[in-house]
Amino acid sequence: MIQVTFITNNGKVVTAAENSNLLRVSLREQGGIPFKCGGGICGTCKCKIEQGLENTDAIKPKERKHLTEEQFKEGYRMACQTFINGDVSVSWQPRTAAAPAAPMPVESN
Ligand code: FES
Repeated sequence: MIQVTFITNNGKVVTAAENSNLLRVSLREQGGIPFKCGGGICGTCKCKIEQGLENTDAIKPKERKHLTEEQFKEGYRMACQTFINGDVSVSWQPRTAAAPAAPMPVESN
């Protein structure tokens, strides 16, 4: 078994079988990685492998549509396209913080 640490979810730690899909582990264990399509299309499941990048499988062509070479080097992956073969720690941009800031309300006297 391997360990997955969901950093953005208060460091929640779960175990999973080797060669598990990262998004599936997150769904099963309520890890909290955001997602929509689960098929590599929407880009919502972008996350950062903070530790254990060497335990992830090869980058898929679909991921290259959402992430740059620079981001891959920093540890970014699409969770729904990533399989893990060892312990990883993953973080992501919480949905609320990722939303654009609302304009300030205009006060009228
Ligand atoms: S959930 Fe849509 S790309 Fe991963």
